[in-house]
Amino acid sequence: MLSETGTQFFGYYPGTVALVTAEHAGVRNVMAAGWHTALSAQPPMYGVLIGRERATHGLVAGSGTFGINFLPASHAKPIQGTGVLSLHDLPQKDKLTRLGLQTLPDAPLALADAYLYYRCRVIQTVPTGDHDLFVGEVLEVRHDPTFYDDRRLFTGEAAVYLGRSSYVKTTQGREIYLPESFD
Ligand SMILES: Cc1cc2nc3c(=O)[nH]c(=O)nc-3n(C[C@H](O)[C@H](O)[C@H](O)COP(=O)(O)O)c2cc1C
Repeated sequence: MLSETGTQFFGYYPGTVALVTAEHAGVRNVMAAGWHTALSAQPPMYGVLIGRERATHGLVAGSGTFGINFLPASHAKPIQGTGVLSLHDLPQKDKLTRLGLQTLPDAPLALADAYLYYRCRVIQTVPTGDHDLFVGEVLEVRHDPTFYDDRRLFTGEAAVYLGRSSYVKTTQGREIYLPESFD
């Protein structure tokens, strides 16, 4: 039964965490974003909400480009690390190196261990309270086929965030409800 709670309750998790990558004026960075969403199929658009105080915010706003990366459950620790470390506080000024995250030589915003990557161009910035919604036009998508079946259904082990630094893995047990099951 539902009981009334305060309005500051982020109980909508579990959900996946996207790793947002950006690079501007010779500085690159990565940060965790639980607030991310597909926005349009045609044209393909993807959005992410970034607090204005994040170092990543300035890089996305300055370059007009961001990457969205999804890493598997085996990488839950570095996923969380990108969300508790800030480039503002790192003396060596490279969060990727600190967390052992590598990028692809021909795609500097794509993380080598991602199973899915979108490269987006910012086409709109919408202020939403203490965050900005960066609306991205998806210019490029890469995926690792070993994480998907021949119908492009995800079969890997995703890192699912529960809140409060906690993650669980998706299992292989599935329930499938085809349209005809509603006849
Ligand atoms: C699991 C998780 C999800 C997060 N989701 C968001 C988010 O959607 N938007 C945001 O602005 N910050 C989010 N954060 C906080 C940033 O990732 C965090 O402040 C990070 O240190 C920012 O890094 P930067 O200052 O180097 O850009 C999240 C943190 C965690 C751990």
